[in-house]
Amino acid sequence: MSETELKEKAIEAASKAYAPYSNFKVGAALLTKSGNVYTGCNIENASYGLTVCAERNAIANAINAEGVIVIKKLVVYTPTPKPTPPCGACRQVIHEFGNPEVKSFCDGEESNIHHSDDLLPHAFELKKD
Ligand code: THU
Repeated sequence: MSETELKEKAIEAASKAYAPYSNFKVGAALLTKSGNVYTGCNIENASYGLTVCAERNAIANAINAEGVIVIKKLVVYTPTPKPTPPCGACRQVIHEFGNPEVKSFCDGEESNIHHSDDLLPHAFELKKD
């Protein structure tokens, strides 16, 4: 799937966001190593801390559909003038499933692209011995 198509999917996902508290809608579309695409939007809650970000919902959707995944590329859209890269919690979860290219884009011209490991250097890993 092309980047343009992934971006369209992320925009569509953002339109489904449940964000009545922040009014900040986010859409994510990810491409897995197996070539499938999954999307997610942010889902907020009256108990604010229960909110789940678009990126983590896209990952949950992917794993529910095909089991363990390797993420090749993740595209994040916000209907804002400036792009917003994933939050810290999402960076840690993205790290779990590969070191994908992460592109954040918005309604403005600006976008940014990083590899997940650059977004979260020294990510936590469970090393017991
Ligand atoms: N949000 C995301 O969906 N992804 C991020 O990486 C950062 C924040 C959502 C959570 C909340 O619904 C809204 O944006 C404002 O924080």
